[in-house]
Amino acid sequence: MSKAKLTFDGEEYEFPVVEGSEGEVGIDVAKLRGATGAVSLDPGYGNTGSCQSSITFIDGEKGILRYRGYPIEELAEKVSFEEVIHLLVYGELPTQSELDELKEKLNEYAVIDEGIKDVLNGLPRTAHPMAMLSTAMSALETYYSTTGSSDEDILRVIAGTNTLAAYIYRYKEELPYVSPSKDLGVASNFLHMMYGRPDEDPDVDEVVAEAIDKLLTLHADHEQNCSTSTVRMVGSAHASLYASIAAGVGALSGPLHGGANQAVLEMLQNIQDDDGDLEKYVELAKDKSSEFRLMGFGHRVYKNFDPRARILKKSADEVLGALGKDDPLLDIARNLEQVALEDEFFVKRRLYPNVDFYSGIIYRALEIPTEMFTVMFALGRVSGWVSQWHEMRNDPAFRIHRPRQIYIGENGRSVQPISERGE
Ligand code: CMC
Repeated sequence: MSKAKLTFDGEEYEFPVVEGSEGEVGIDVAKLRGATGAVSLDPGYGNTGSCQSSITFIDGEKGILRYRGYPIEELAEKVSFEEVIHLLVYGELPTQSELDELKEKLNEYAVIDEGIKDVLNGLPRTAHPMAMLSTAMSALETYYSTTGSSDEDILRVIAGTNTLAAYIYRYKEELPYVSPSKDLGVASNFLHMMYGRPDEDPDVDEVVAEAIDKLLTLHADHEQNCSTSTVRMVGSAHASLYASIAAGVGALSGPLHGGANQAVLEMLQNIQDDDGDLEKYVELAKDKSSEFRLMGFGHRVYKNFDPRARILKKSADEVLGALGKDDPLLDIARNLEQVALEDEFFVKRRLYPNVDFYSGIIYRALEIPTEMFTVMFALGRVSGWVSQWHEMRNDPAFRIHRPRQIYIGENGRSVQPISERGE
């Protein structure tokens, strides 16, 4: 299969077919407009491959997710988040000495300029943490780089996001900032900066640190999703890495994307307050006159199950068990999943729990405030964003991203003076 034929306006055209390493095929329409005068139209980009990438593979029909060829199930089980960072950014799992070096750099770059605290201190404490993160990420650029393409920038953005996230929490809670430790991994350092004391050595709960580490791995990359495409889009104009990541944070904050994890927990709480009447919410989600959707359900790519949701469902049980906690919201979530999976509406549309459905229950058990959930998503995803940004900038086929449109507005008109436009 090397060519695709298109008959258009009585003429026949041929376009090259590109095949990926997992057998995925794409019709290369880069020359479509030049040859035919027409563009491809694909609102929401559901059928558009925006790039060729060797970072993450997803088979939505089979529920497969792999980073650089490694299945997500194995990565979540066997490696640390720092190893995943190395895998995504540099293409391979690290040797011990490479890992040690990476951890050292991440700890060095976790220390951010004192001026960032002034930036945060100037924001209203009531602001959403994602708005604060985006602001602070833009501010990082003013201290560290104007080009944003060095290895230092890449690691500084990852480590800096960790510090910013914890500082945002401390600022909102009116607590003094806790500086990063020189000896901890990403998850433990985050917990130390969130819950430690400025004058005390780190004392991090291992169970909690391991749970966060796994969550970061599960959220690390997901090929060309909305926020990653945003990062690539902004970076394609040769905007800096920091500016691109700040835009990615904005995209992730939306409730149809990363913001869904906060929305799921709020939905489960509403169901609980409504005496556990989950049928009411299922009916509301099916009602086309209502805008309500079952949060944490459905996915553009996964049409049978989301492998991350499977891991997290099991993980929720394990984490609650290890911490000796019992959460009625977990029972509501399990029951809601059961009811929805048996309902014709959800079955027909192939709507299943996604990564955001169970993650909030775990964050809650770890005592992360609900408003911080999407920031937790960003802590993991930033490693994917920087890897994708870097891959794009080094791609020989790289061009500025500039989609076309089909214009459906008024045809050419001439301006009337305001006095002649009537009342
Ligand atoms: N509840 C009720 N109905 C739904 C839902 C839902 N959660 N998701 C999709 N549908 C219906 C939708 O109304 C449409 O029905 P119809 O064909 O009758 O018009 C059909 O299913 C297809 O939906 P779509 O909006 O065309 O699908 P999409 O691929 O454009 O959207 C989605 C994917 C994830 C935005 C959507 O499923 C959704 O809004 N889910 C809830 C929000 C959510 O959980 N987001 C997290 C996504 S996973 C992690 C991440 O990306 O951050």
